[in-house]
Amino acid sequence: MPAMEIIILPTPAEVGRLAARKIAQVVTRRPEAVVGLATGSSPMAIYAELAAQVRSGTLDARRVRGVALDEYVGIPAEHPESYRSVITRQVTEPLGLDPGNVFVPDGRATDIPAACAAYEAAIRGLGGVDIQILGIGANGHIGFNEPTSSFASRTRIKTLAPQTRADNARFFADPDEVPTHCLTQGLGTIMDAHELLLVAQGEAKAAAIAAAVEGPVTSICPGSILQFHPEATVVIDETAAADLQLVDYYKHTYANKPDWQRF
Ligand code: F6R
Repeated sequence: MPAMEIIILPTPAEVGRLAARKIAQVVTRRPEAVVGLATGSSPMAIYAELAAQVRSGTLDARRVRGVALDEYVGIPAEHPESYRSVITRQVTEPLGLDPGNVFVPDGRATDIPAACAAYEAAIRGLGGVDIQILGIGANGHIGFNEPTSSFASRTRIKTLAPQTRADNARFFADPDEVPTHCLTQGLGTIMDAHELLLVAQGEAKAAAIAAAVEGPVTSICPGSILQFHPEATVVIDETAAADLQLVDYYKHTYANKPDWQRF
């Protein structure tokens, strides 16, 4: 049933728990599910919750295939802040995935276009992404598709927006260390995923969430393309919801959802 669902929860912890429940449901239904993996702060609570479920034996993720959204260009894969390293630390190891089943674009490739084409082929070879986890940048980017990215774009090299570099400086010792480029799944690649699950927490995301959910569909806010996806769920906390016009409507809808529609 095509839908874009907006779920507003009181705290960031509840956002992580509910989003993890959605992922766990997909994996329980299809143990070899292909899960699209975002990095950054937004999905950390999801991964921590899924790891707790794996530890307690309520979830078996060993057959899950993982596909990263993006990777920096110009830092070694072994760098602690490469997305390859972050995903190993936060997902592959704690959830017990087979490292051979976790795919990350090769930001060190000498032939970047070939590496991007290989990444698209790898996703196709897996049969596509069942559910793609997304965060959103304060400037509306998803993946590293910065404002004015083509809605038809596939995996390619992008220049990080100055705001994105500044936002991600917290992960590096020195702001100058933040790479200037990245490889990212394109908006067209992301839109091919069967389901999208976007999470956001905090007031810094409020404007981007309002533009993505209620604004016009426009490449100046790449996240607004979610409005064209047949199965997109947006799970946010109260502060990230602060600029939405229809907060009461979304809450009313969620509170009155039939049980059979819940996850
Ligand atoms: C990360 C990614 C980005 C982040 C976004 C939000 O793989 O693709 O789109 O999701 O920059 O970052 P955080 O969650 O750190 O606020």
